Amino acid sequence: MTWLITGGAGYIGAHVAHAMTAAGEQVVVLDDLSSGIPERLPAGVPLVRGSVLDRDAVDRVLAGHAVTGVVHLAAKKQVGESVEQPLRYYRENVCGLTVLLEAVVAAGVRSFLFSSSAAVYGVPDTDLVPESAPCEPINPYGETKLTGERLVRAAGRAHGLSTACLRYFNVAGAAAPELSDTGVFNIVPMFFDRITRGEAPRIFGADYPTPDGTCIRDYIHVADLADAHLAVARRLAGTAGGEDLTVNIGRGIGVSVRELASVVAEVTGRGPQPVVEPRRAGDPAKAVASVERIAEELGWRASYGVREMVASAWEGWLARHPETAAR
Ligand SMILES: NC(=O)c1ccc[n+]([C@@H]2O[C@H](COP(=O)([O-])OP(=O)(O)OC[C@H]3O[C@@H](n4cnc5c(N)ncnc54)[C@H](O)[C@@H]3O)[C@@H](O)[C@H]2O)c1
Repeated sequence: MTWLITGGAGYIGAHVAHAMTAAGEQVVVLDDLSSGIPERLPAGVPLVRGSVLDRDAVDRVLAGHAVTGVVHLAAKKQVGESVEQPLRYYRENVCGLTVLLEAVVAAGVRSFLFSSSAAVYGVPDTDLVPESAPCEPINPYGETKLTGERLVRAAGRAHGLSTACLRYFNVAGAAAPELSDTGVFNIVPMFFDRITRGEAPRIFGADYPTPDGTCIRDYIHVADLADAHLAVARRLAGTAGGEDLTVNIGRGIGVSVRELASVVAEVTGRGPQPVVEPRRAGDPAKAVASVERIAEELGWRASYGVREMVASAWEGWLARHPETAAR
């Protein structure tokens, strides 16, 4: 069986490609390299440069590599940008998925994993968010992920595909320095960016109804996330068709922004005290996954803690910004 990983040259996709090949799976990657880096891929994994919006390119890779399962990660992922450019986000994330699914159905592919997000929940109002919580995204990015889930399930029902929608919580860390996140959009790289410029890390809002007043999130190591993809892929491949799984991927443990800032200060040995700035619109006070479903369905649990996430992300940051190591 050969797996197509779309977006496999990206931060998470490359981790999935490494985890799957290390476990003996055959993998091919389709990536338009809009944010992907080819050097992240394991040796020997074919990279086809092209967009999921290009039906001919998708058909060629499915047929040329006898693909039987797809892990679809290719997408645009910046919430703020999605507010400014909703049409681009719908085109890339929803039209791209539609083209891919049409090609997948025509090619007789049997298994399809979709990269979704906790953004589908919007502002959850439960302590631990189960998959059955209402999905009310509050930005176009989250809307494209929710629409994507619906498309994937509908195609699965109509065409006998086994499908899974994986709702990632806050992804951090790196399995190796060269695989680390090069973007400065998530909180850990944002903290590194500030402290290596000698500026205090910023906390947006310290008046939330949480024990220390800062937002609480569920951080998941990207190596754990990649391992969960492998577990789900094997589950889908082992079914006769018609599987329809939607699972949160997190640790089920909340960590406040202030707690995270302390871990960053400890790991990096650089500790300007964080400064508190006003709340950002749309940040829920708390978003922590209920992780019971994936444990029950697959016996899967995350194994890494926050310190390992921060330490591995810091190694990657120093490798990419060697000038900051000396400061
Ligand atoms: N990083 C996170 O915290 C997070 C959280 C929840 C969900 N996700 C989802 O995980 C997936 C991967 O995210 P990431 O953090 O690795 O981002 P990333 O930008 O590093 O990776 C995305 C990859 O997809 C490729 N790509 C983008 N548009 C494409 C297209 N039209 N055709 C082919 N390739 C295309 C990019 O070149 C890149 O390699 C995305 O679907 C994202 O929405 C990420």
